[in-house]
Amino acid sequence: MAISSTAAAPAEVGTAMPVHVGIIMDGNGRWAAARGLPRIEGHRRGVEALRRTVRNAGELGIKVLTIYSFSTENWSRPKQEVSDLMSLIKRFVREDLAELHRAGVKVMMIGDREGLDPEILKLVSDAEALTRENDKLTLVVAFNYGGRQEIARAARRIAAEVASGTLDPEAVDADALDRRLDTAGLPEPDLIIRTSGELRVSNFLLWQAAYAEFVVLPVHWPDFDRGALVQALDEFRRRERRFGGLEARARA
Ligand code: FPP
Repeated sequence: MAISSTAAAPAEVGTAMPVHVGIIMDGNGRWAAARGLPRIEGHRRGVEALRRTVRNAGELGIKVLTIYSFSTENWSRPKQEVSDLMSLIKRFVREDLAELHRAGVKVMMIGDREGLDPEILKLVSDAEALTRENDKLTLVVAFNYGGRQEIARAARRIAAEVASGTLDPEAVDADALDRRLDTAGLPEPDLIIRTSGELRVSNFLLWQAAYAEFVVLPVHWPDFDRGALVQALDEFRRRERRFGGLEARARA
């Protein structure tokens, strides 16, 4: 698929678009601080950036978009900020669900549901049920999510199945664990974008990102626009993916 870009060099190495893109939406606080605004204003503008990105991702042919909306570590932020983020997430589902459904977006949550606010859980499960059959784009919302915790939950499921005699310990391999992750059934992320410049994974899709390409952009999340997304996609297409094997030339 051809995509227009303002970026300098055309993509040459890979021609394929990423099927699954993950985004670490960082920099809301810094965006606000740079403008003398409260952090919540950065998060509000972050929701607008998210709306734009879902639309742009669909138009550019991305099939799965996973966004890191709230990590298991984010609970340690000041109470007011946590409560503001919860309100924004609830409002996003309430206000945007109909539009997402009309646009053919399937909504899914990954993360720990245990102990979450029942109001959020109900909103999420209703959104998942309403959009289950949609296939234009899958929007995976990583909420109360941590990669290590997700792997531990999968390991616990495996342990329970082994203990109950329904799973042979010899059958526990990478695929078996993969099938018990929250992302079971989804393709692995091809590209992970992090905004705001920091070179960290921050407990995001640790297992699934084994062969993902990382693109870190300096832009703060509230300023992330179509141009920034296209820039990341162009960078992805310039990368040569080898998945631990040899490059095409050396194999011949
Ligand atoms: C990182 O910025 C962003 C977050 C921790 C939350 C992301 C949330 C949103 C974009 C809005 C709510 C989400 C949904 C799904 C509606 P930061 O606060 O860590 O920024 P900083 O590193 O500059 O302080």
